[in-house]
Amino acid sequence: MVKAPVWHSHKTHRSHRELLNGHRACLLWFTGLSGSGKSTIAGLVEEKLHAMGKRTYLLDGDNVRHGLNRDLGFSDQDRVENIRRIGEMSRLFVDAGMITLAAFISPFRTDRNAVRKRMTTGDFVEVFIDTPLATCEQRDPKGLYRRARDGQIKDFTGIDSPYEPPEAPELHIVNDDIAPEDSATQVVHYLQSHGYFPQPDVQPHDEA
Ligand code: ADX
Repeated sequence: MVKAPVWHSHKTHRSHRELLNGHRACLLWFTGLSGSGKSTIAGLVEEKLHAMGKRTYLLDGDNVRHGLNRDLGFSDQDRVENIRRIGEMSRLFVDAGMITLAAFISPFRTDRNAVRKRMTTGDFVEVFIDTPLATCEQRDPKGLYRRARDGQIKDFTGIDSPYEPPEAPELHIVNDDIAPEDSATQVVHYLQSHGYFPQPDVQPHDEA
């Protein structure tokens, strides 16, 4: 492995950026099967936060795979690298003061926990979008389940590649029979009730 250069600490810190924003930053990590509703719900959460005057950025599986991670496929090894890179990128976005929303299948518990460990306690909010495989398969918004069942796509999560549900997510949303709007509201309430939006006179989260 290449030796890491010494970390350069710049004068403007995350806490300064958070003060300017008027709220603290964090990472909302949405995990769940393809078609579970992660991106839809994350998008609605972002809309709500934006309307409340919060600075946000949404990283989405399909989009990131068009650019930064376009060299990665869906083997176990590539998925591990996908999540590692997104974890590091999310960390930078949080350092930039953003409420960062990451919507990726992120099927492996170890990888999600590795991202959590790279963050300060409280910065990583794992949101499990728990939708039964049968429902995802029935929705099949991109026709990928059908193609996976036909054997045209290999290593498809839930079909011939595993999904390991979180053991202790901060939020567990059973998204079987509820409106995405209601799921998004649950996420915003979580942030409100767990002190993520302090009053302006409260010092935001400082550097670790
Ligand atoms: S992850 O497993 O590495 O976290 P990621 O969230 O980036 O996956 O990408 C998942 C999206 O890629 C799915 O929503 C789906 O549209 C598409 N996709 C294409 N092939 C596969 C596959 N074999 N398994 C899962 N998703 C796939």
